[in-house]
Amino acid sequence: MPYTVPKLTDFSTAALDNAARELLSALKQESEAVASENDWKAFRDRWMARKNGILTQLNDLWLKASPGPGKREVGQRVNELKTKIEPTVDATLARIQSAASSGKLAGERLDITLPGIRRPLGAEHPIIKTMNEIVGVFRNLGYSVEEGPEIETDYYNFEALNFPPNHPARDTQDTLFIAGQDSKPPRDRLLLRTHTSPVQIRTMQKTKPPVRVVCPGKVHRNDAPDATHSPIFHQVEGLAVDTNITFCDLKGTLDHAMKALFGSSVKTRFYPSFFPFTEPSADVQISCIFCDGKGVRDGAPCRNCKASGWIELLGCGMVDPNVYGFVDYDATRVSGFAFGMGVERIAILKYGVDDIQLFFQGDIRFLEQFG
Ligand code: PHE
Repeated sequence: MPYTVPKLTDFSTAALDNAARELLSALKQESEAVASENDWKAFRDRWMARKNGILTQLNDLWLKASPGPGKREVGQRVNELKTKIEPTVDATLARIQSAASSGKLAGERLDITLPGIRRPLGAEHPIIKTMNEIVGVFRNLGYSVEEGPEIETDYYNFEALNFPPNHPARDTQDTLFIAGQDSKPPRDRLLLRTHTSPVQIRTMQKTKPPVRVVCPGKVHRNDAPDATHSPIFHQVEGLAVDTNITFCDLKGTLDHAMKALFGSSVKTRFYPSFFPFTEPSADVQISCIFCDGKGVRDGAPCRNCKASGWIELLGCGMVDPNVYGFVDYDATRVSGFAFGMGVERIAILKYGVDDIQLFFQGDIRFLEQFG
C-alpha cells in the first residue's frame, strides 16, 4: 500500500510524533526503491509537486486543519519534515547519477566471483642479463664500468684506434654516418659506433694508468640480418693498462672469464688474428660446449663447432703502442691488454638460441623463458 497523508483529527504531540514517523519511514523506503532517472522524477513529483505533492498535502491536511492554539506546533512539525524531504530527494538523484557513471545500473552488483586481472611479470631481457653477467665476472676481478656514446666521432671509433683514414681495416666495420657533415673535418664526422673500443680511448683520456675497465654497450654495423648477424648488437669491452702487464695476464684473465661464464671444464685457445689497435692480436676460442671439444656428438660431426672442437668467441690483444700516443700515455712505461666480446654470441651459446633475430623481435613467448 503506497503511503497517503492521513487527515489528522488528533493534534496531540504523541499523535504528531506518530504521523511524522510514518511519513519519514515511507520517504526512506520510496527513496531506496528509486533505480532510474524516471523513477526519481516520479518520486520527486509525488513528494514535492506544488499541486498535490505530499508536502503540499501536509499544509492542507495538517496545518490548515489544526485548531487555533495548536497551529504553532503543527507549523513547526511541517517545517521540520520539509527540511528532511528536500535533501532526501536531492540525495536520491545524486545516488542514481553516481551509480550510472560508475556503470552500476539498477540491479547491477560487483561480482566478487569473477577472476581477477593478472598482471604478467616482466623479465630481464636475455641480452641485458648476459651483459650483466659478463660485467659481474670482471667486477669480481676489480674492474670498474665505463660507458660511451653510441653516436661516435670517426676519431674515437677509428683514428685514435690506429685505423688510418682509408685503411682497409675500416671496411670490416662499415657503418652508418650521420648525413650532412661534409663541411666538417673527417675525424669529427659522426657515425654509429661499430664497436665498444672507442670507450678505451675515452677512458684513457680522462684517467691516468693504472686502468681496469669493462665497457658494455650497443654497436652497429652494415651487416644484413640472418640467423647469426644483426645490424645492431652488443659488446663488452675490456681494458687493463698498468706497468708490466703481459700477454700472460691477458690469457689468465680471459681463461678465468670463460670458465666463469661457461663452466670450469671449458678450455681456451688463443689464435693469431689482427686488429689495428692491438699487437699482437688474437681470437679466443673455447672448447665446444656441445661436444666437449671432441668434434663429434652422438656419433656425428658436431654442427656447433663444425667438427673442430673449438668455438671462436672474442677478439683481444696487447694494446698497440701507437694507441698510447693518442692518449698521452708513456708507451715505454706502461703496457696493457684489451678484449671485446659479442654479447649475443655468448647468449646464443649459453642458452642454446638458434637465431639471433629472436633477441630483437620482442616476442614475449621467447622473452618470458628467461624470467
Ligand atoms: N673491437 C673489436 C671488434 O669489435 C674487438 C676487440 C676489442 C679486439 C679489443 C681487440 C681488443 O671486432
